[in-house]
Amino acid sequence: MRDRADSPRRGRLDALHMTHERATVVGGGVIGVSWTALFLAHGLHVTVSDPLPGIETRVRAAIAQIAPTLADLGLTVDGERLAFEPDVSVAVATADVVQENGPERTDVKRSLWASIEQGAPPDAIFASSSSSIPASVMAASMKQPQRLVVGHPFNPPHLVPLVEVVPSPDTDPAAVQRAVDFYRAVGKRPQVLSREIPGFVANRLQAALFREAVNLVAEGVVTEQQLDDVVTSSIGMRWAVAGPFLTFHLGGGPGGLGDFLTHLGPTLEALWSNLGSPTLDQKTADLLRAQANGFDGPVDELAQRRDAGETALMRALGELPAHA
Ligand SMILES: NC(=O)c1ccc[n+]([C@@H]2O[C@H](COP(=O)([O-])OP(=O)(O)OC[C@H]3O[C@@H](n4cnc5c(N)ncnc54)[C@H](O)[C@@H]3O)[C@@H](O)[C@H]2O)c1
Repeated sequence: MRDRADSPRRGRLDALHMTHERATVVGGGVIGVSWTALFLAHGLHVTVSDPLPGIETRVRAAIAQIAPTLADLGLTVDGERLAFEPDVSVAVATADVVQENGPERTDVKRSLWASIEQGAPPDAIFASSSSSIPASVMAASMKQPQRLVVGHPFNPPHLVPLVEVVPSPDTDPAAVQRAVDFYRAVGKRPQVLSREIPGFVANRLQAALFREAVNLVAEGVVTEQQLDDVVTSSIGMRWAVAGPFLTFHLGGGPGGLGDFLTHLGPTLEALWSNLGSPTLDQKTADLLRAQANGFDGPVDELAQRRDAGETALMRALGELPAHA
């Protein structure tokens, strides 16, 4: 796939390069590596800051694994633009964007953001990948908490379009907008939440569905493999093109969601009170672990198949990371 000079993607990249040339990725684990690959593929210079010994070898090896997937989407990862600096204050010194992916611990995040703020240029974008710690908590040791947003990706960020942008009550709306513009420029689909809420939106939805999935397996109604097949062959497929609300809006016929709620709302409501509330006690966890052995292949092979499937789906939907 090639860029045309007048393509929307080319325009976005030109705009990106006028404003953002250098990204610092703090924490080079699962999520940091994935962001790094995506940023490199969009022509940014990336510095990874992670104190782990041997981090450069690890990150470069992981990026080599990701590169073919991005190549499949028409994006080239240039490892020449990649640098490493363990001292976070030094690593952010010339950053236009800082994407933090350190361990999910409040003390670590607070200390990292205090150091980042000290070392970074005054206009750098500040975003944390945190999946559970709100910006208001992470910013407790910052002098300028108005600069920080959560930029929560869905794993893997180099592939899945969604980024949940979650401001704290202190975050400057301009900081939110700059983060949104940046994520769009690297092909993401940012959604700004109006307020902080545990789990944000996507993980709350996953948790709700997974609760009933665990219940159905624990009750012996279906196996894990059957349940997954039910999802991927029905609502999973449907939700890739129409979310739950549009789905039911269409389910109401010409009268839309209003008619749907009149006709099927009471049935749906009755079902809510029948949903399970399982716990992950030893017995349930043992059952889930045992059934997970029934998936067809080792985890890395299954992950590769999933990535290939998601790539094909995104291509079919025109949902490439860069909307190319
Ligand atoms: N794994 C996921 O599915 C997922 C999805 C979305 C968001 N997140 C969030 O992304 C963040 C990172 O998660 P992960 O799964 O990549 O974790 P990870 O354990 O794979 O990576 C964390 C990295 O941080 C490094 N680190 C430790 N102390 C550091 C420091 N002081 N400075 C810089 N780096 C340091 C570690 O060496 C490690 O490489 C977390 O906040 C997590 O909530 C994770």
